[in-house]
Amino acid sequence: MRVSMFLFLLVLMPLAVHAGGASLSGEALFNSTALGGNGKSCASCHPQGKGLGQIGDYDDAILEEFVNFCIRDAMKGQMLPQGAPELQTLARYLRQFQSAK
Ligand code: HEC
Repeated sequence: MRVSMFLFLLVLMPLAVHAGGASLSGEALFNSTALGGNGKSCASCHPQGKGLGQIGDYDDAILEEFVNFCIRDAMKGQMLPQGAPELQTLARYLRQFQSAK
């Protein structure tokens, strides 16, 4: 399981970097360092959705805003435009990390 995950990332990371986030899966975006400027991906700080268990409290607009804050502040990246497909894909991907209530 761990090994296959690692191989998966090994294949996806360069793809994500080169595609710059366009038309990538939520998982690829979550693991991509291309969203930021400091070599970090969402997964660096939120492995297995760490810290994201409460996002069920947020509607999509708020969730996307939080994602953008992390891109700007935690990843030193360029915030994505409101409604950008990558932002929506990423936010949708995050929903799996919501704790069941
Ligand atoms: C350098 C570390 C770091 C990176 C990289 C990072 N985050 Fe975060 N993120 C945090 C911290 C710290 C918080 C605040 C956690 C808290 O409120 O307990 C946070 C909060 C959030 C929240 C709000 C959670 C809540 O319940 O309020 C979301 C959503 C989120 N991050 C998504 C992302 C996504 C998506 C990415 C990638 C685009 C990302 N983060 C990248 C550190 C990071």
